[in-house]
Amino acid sequence: MSEMCYVCHPQVQAENSLFSHHPIREKKMFCVDCHEVHGSTQDRLLKGTTPKETCTRCHMDKQGPFAFEHADVTENCMNCHTPHGSVNNQLLNASMPFLCMQCHTGHVAGNTPGLKQLFTNRCTDCHSQIHGTDTPSQSVTGRGTLRQ
Ligand code: HEC
Ligand code: HEC
Ligand code: HEC
Ligand code: HEC
Ligand code: HEC
Ligand code: HEC
Repeated sequence: MSEMCYVCHPQVQAENSLFSHHPIREKKMFCVDCHEVHGSTQDRLLKGTTPKETCTRCHMDKQGPFAFEHADVTENCMNCHTPHGSVNNQLLNASMPFLCMQCHTGHVAGNTPGLKQLFTNRCTDCHSQIHGTDTPSQSVTGRGTLRQ
């Protein structure tokens, strides 16, 4: 089934062989789990009505709504993930902290009250609820800093 598609899409086959990948090669998933080959209202023949829905049909825990969302960045999972395969852990489209640094400055020169300058690679060691949370921040009223 997927072999049929690989014939014309060798780039996707190559991506499926990278370190982190959806289990397509393993035949636990198929191209048509995400693509509507006969036509779709979305770009790239994607299944579902929104980019988010393409993914949350299976990853329901990431769907929300959460009391504290990661702004609207999670409306398109591809802001941080790549679907077919990645050299980075967990299908991330860049490694940490570069992934986060595309949009954030990180914690430099004490820009966060109560937090000393911090050099770190693993942002999600603390911001572990990166997809959204219902737990408010302990220090910033009305925000949720995705830490728990
Ligand atoms: C987990 C969901 C998922 C699976 C499974 C999947 N795709 Fe995709 N595919 C996507 C998404 C999402 C995009 C759009 C990527 C983007 O816009 O950045 C995409 C884009 C594409 C594109 C357009 C070129 C590109 O790389 O952006 C092709 C061609 C493609 N997929 C083919 C395939 C084939 C062939 C398979 C099976 C071997 C497959 N896909 C399996 C989600 C998936
Ligand atoms: C006979 C060759 C051929 C086969 C087999 C084939 N495709 Fe394609 N596919 C193409 C061509 C050609 C394009 C257009 C390429 C482009 O626009 O870069 C395309 C485009 C796509 C796109 C991107 C559409 C877009 O809007 O950019 C997706 C997704 C895709 N194919 C998925 C699949 C899947 C899934 C299968 C297997 C069920 C499959 N293809 C089998 C030739 C093929
Ligand atoms: C048809 C169901 C299905 C769909 C749709 C789907 N996934 Fe997955 N996803 C899976 C399965 C199965 C795994 C592998 C889980 C495992 O190995 O434990 C997985 C794993 C993942 C992982 C973790 C990979 C790793 O290396 O640990 C990420 C990230 C992910 N998916 C993101 C996405 C994104 C983004 C989309 C939408 C483009 C999507 N998924 C669509 C079923 C799906
Ligand atoms: C702001 C960036 C970002 C966005 C947007 C994002 N993710 Fe993630 N995702 C991550 C990071 C970072 C990890 C790795 C978490 C870690 O290091 O503990 C991850 C891990 C995952 C995993 C594997 C581990 C787990 O928690 O199950 C899945 C599945 C996943 N994401 C699905 C999704 C889906 C579905 C969407 C869209 C609704 C999405 N992600 C949007 C950053 C993001
Ligand atoms: C595509 C851009 C983008 C990426 C990538 C991204 N973020 Fe964000 N993030 C945002 C936006 C936009 C906001 C909301 C802006 C604000 O309220 O200051 C936000 C807010 C946050 C917040 C504060 C939430 C709140 O309620 O105050 C934290 C914490 C955060 N991001 C951590 C991360 C981490 C960690 C990563 C990497 C895993 C990451 N972000 C990746 C765009 C992004
Ligand atoms: C040692 C734990 C820790 C690590 C690691 C960490 N953070 Fe934070 N971050 C915090 C704390 C504490 C706050 C303060 C807010 C709260 O939760 O009360 C915060 C707040 C934030 C905020 C929102 C507050 C603001 O100033 O707008 C962003 C954005 C953020 N962190 C991004 C990052 C990024 C990007 C990384 C990785 C380079 C990162 N953090 C690594 C603990 C951490």
